Amino acid sequence: MRTKLVAGNWKMNGGLASNQALLAAMIPALAGLTAAKFAVCAPYPYLAQVRQVLRGSNIACGAQDLCQFESGAYTGGVSAAMLLEFDCRYVIVGHSERRSVFGESDELVALKFAAAVKHRLTPILCVGETLAERESGVTETVVARQLDAVIGCCGSTALAQGVIAYEPVWAIGTGKTATPQEAQAVHATIRARIRAAADRRLADGQTILYGGSVKAANAGQLFAMPDVDGGLIGGASLVADEFIAICRAAQVARETVKA
Ligand code: 13P
Repeated sequence: MRTKLVAGNWKMNGGLASNQALLAAMIPALAGLTAAKFAVCAPYPYLAQVRQVLRGSNIACGAQDLCQFESGAYTGGVSAAMLLEFDCRYVIVGHSERRSVFGESDELVALKFAAAVKHRLTPILCVGETLAERESGVTETVVARQLDAVIGCCGSTALAQGVIAYEPVWAIGTGKTATPQEAQAVHATIRARIRAAADRRLADGQTILYGGSVKAANAGQLFAMPDVDGGLIGGASLVADEFIAICRAAQVARETVKA
């Protein structure tokens, strides 16, 4: 059975004092939740702090992006090897904000995915459609194109080395969440695509997160869906009580499946 994962994406938020307070609240609250996995993806300058504060806890450290190159004259770039030195286990690639604001193409995202897996970092590959794309009925085509870019670059079994996050762009930071049924439908097509490209065993084992206005109030229903394996949380990951409640919902969803 797949273990639920809840990852916070702090985006370009935080500060030394507020990070410390947030993590200090999270660590004891999540300590007893052993049926799910947890992570926070912090801005680069805070990775050293986050790594140190999280040491010995059950919360993993992650980054929000990486450079596709190994090292050299790439001003502003941060390599996979550098992230590993700060104990990052996860790195987000292809977030819709990277795609739309920073112009990252499917091909570049695939190269970043490849750089992460080469160094045994777990990439969290974000896929998802805009509102216009959903309204014109091309959600599946868009998501398939984004997945196929990684399969084409890294091989048919590559996705299994990462985590996929379905994040409909229209639900990010808008307060509009996909309904559990809408999320489930897309998650099921993602799993089917992996089954077709690779095999049933890899598809069944693939962790697929939902992201987009997940909150304490809707996490339980989303995580109860059979193909929703947890969440990638933006705004609510900056509020200790909200994030802790979302993490508890992942633990409860897992226990409910077992019962
Ligand atoms: P919100 O949870 O703020 O909608 O952001 C989702 C997201 O983009 C996580 O990567």
